[in-house]
Parts: sequence; structure tokens; C-alpha cells
Amino acid sequence: MVYAHQPVMLKEVLHYLQAQAGQKFIDGTLGGAGYTLALAQAVGSTGQILALDLDELAIQNAQAEIKKNKLNNIVLVRSNFKNIKRVVADNFPPQTKFAGLVLDLGLSSAQLNDESRGFSFQGRRPLKMSFGAGGERSTIEIVNKYSFSELARVFQEAGERNWSEALAQKIIIARKSKVLQTTTDLVQIIKQVIPQNSNVKINSATKVFQALRLETNQELEALAEVLLASLEVLEPGGRLVIVSFHSGEDRLVKHFFKDNRNLQIITKKPISPGAAEVNINPRARSAKLRAAVRC
Ligand SMILES: C[S@@+](CC[C@H](N)C(=O)[O-])C[C@H]1O[C@@H](n2cnc3c(N)ncnc32)[C@H](O)[C@@H]1O
Repeated sequence: MVYAHQPVMLKEVLHYLQAQAGQKFIDGTLGGAGYTLALAQAVGSTGQILALDLDELAIQNAQAEIKKNKLNNIVLVRSNFKNIKRVVADNFPPQTKFAGLVLDLGLSSAQLNDESRGFSFQGRRPLKMSFGAGGERSTIEIVNKYSFSELARVFQEAGERNWSEALAQKIIIARKSKVLQTTTDLVQIIKQVIPQNSNVKINSATKVFQALRLETNQELEALAEVLLASLEVLEPGGRLVIVSFHSGEDRLVKHFFKDNRNLQIITKKPISPGAAEVNINPRARSAKLRAAVRC
């Protein structure tokens, strides 16, 4: 099985986590295991990494990598990171605390490129965008059953207010004549509503698809829950490093860090990837890293 994903800002993530031999870390978003494997090397055989993902394929890929690299210090759990306290309680002795928790939000390239997943607006694919089996909500139901105001809210959260109501309106009209089932059905509607601005690099469909993915997986809600739970699983001095790709996620992290007197912010401004990384891996271009220390 090939699970292709180039880790984003790996060097910066390792810099802010400062992993030492013998420490325990949590990688809440295993993906292609880029961060997990690097952390496992850094903490050595006396340390431990707990890695979570909702996607069974990510877990299977990591199992193969662990075997190939002969590592014995990684605990893999298929779960939502919002359940971190329960996952820790189920897999570690009572009162276990961690030296750091990292999240690399969103989806992996392997998921984006998997034709059966419906994450990409390229080609004709079924409208389903869940990270794991089932997902929190069904994308088809969101598109075909949500009211006008619910749809407008979902698109507004994508960061663009100008077209959210017009798009919601067009979807309501289009679904009267047929059930919207594929990515093509949606792309045709998006094209009628949102003009393509040649100055904007990101295709407008990208933002709509991102908004539907966030709603399908209830991603902002899960992020808010894991941030709060992180304070209980991190040891004093433990580090929280979040890499996000969406303004809504970054805003949430920024305010959580600012409003929490148990956290000391160590990135005054969000850190972005360098030009060399973006050149090699254009997916990294919208990444923003924020880090804080648990006091
Ligand atoms: C961008 S990838 C992570 C890539 C990883 N850092 C690497 O180096 O390969 C994000 C991963 O997080 C997973 N994910 C997203 N939301 C999640 C959640 N709430 N709980 C657990 N896993 C989640 C996705 O399934 C995906 O595999």
C-alpha cells in the first residue's frame, strides 16, 4: 500500500517540540506518520509516542512503517483526537502526562488523492468527505437536507462572506430537480455562483469543498475539544504545537492560546513554511504553526 504524504514544516515542528530521549509525546494526526516516526527516533526506545488517526488506512500504513523501521515505542489508536483523555486513560498508567502534543490539521495527500473519498473537486466522485468510516455527519445530507441558513453558515465559515448566501440559494434550487450526489454536481453550481478570479491562486471550489469537509467531520468542534483536553494531558512545561491550514482553525488556536493563562505563547506570530518548502510541496503554502508551553 502506498500512503503518500509529505510532512509539512517537519523541521519547525521538531524545533518547537524539543523532543528529548525518554519523553512521551502525542501526535493527534498521524497521517503518513511523518511526525510520528521523527518523534519516535528523537525519544528513543525509552520514550513513547501515542499517535491517533480516524483513518484506518493511516493506521495500517503506520503499522507497516513501524515494522520496517523496527520501532517499539509507538502506540497507535484509531480515534478522534477530541477523545484524547479517554485514549490516554485506556492505554497508559493512571496520571501519565506528556511532554508535548502536536496536531497537523486537515487531510493528508493520500486522502485527497484517493478517488473514492470525494475530498477533491477534480473528476466525478461521490460526495462524501469523512476522515474515518462514517464521519460525524453525511456530506450528501448536508448538501441535500440543510436549510438555507445552515448552508450559508457552513460557507461563511469557509472565510468568504460574499457568495455564501448565493451559493446556498443555488444549491436549494438545484436539489429540487435532483439529489446532488457527486463532486461534479457541486462544481457545476459553484461555477455559476463564484467567479474565478485569476489573481487568486486557490480555486473557489477548494474553499467550498473545505467548508463541507469541516462540517462533515465537525473539525472546528473537535479542535476546540482537544485544545481544552490538552491542558490535562500535558505535563508542566509540556508543549502544544498546532499546524493549521484554514483561517477558522488558526483563529480558534490563536484565541485559545491568548485566553488561557495556563499557556505561555512561544510563537509571537504564526510561523509559515519557507519558500524552499513551498516550492517542493505547494500543499504547505497555507500552513500556519503556533506553539505554546503549558505552565
Ligand atoms: C495532514 S494529515 C497529517 C500528516 C502527518 N503530520 C504526517 O506527517 O504525515 C492529517 C491527518 O489527521 C487525521 N485527522 C483529521 N482530523 C482528525 C481527528 N479529529 N482525529 C483524528 N485524526 C484526525 C486525518 O485523517 C489525516 O490522516
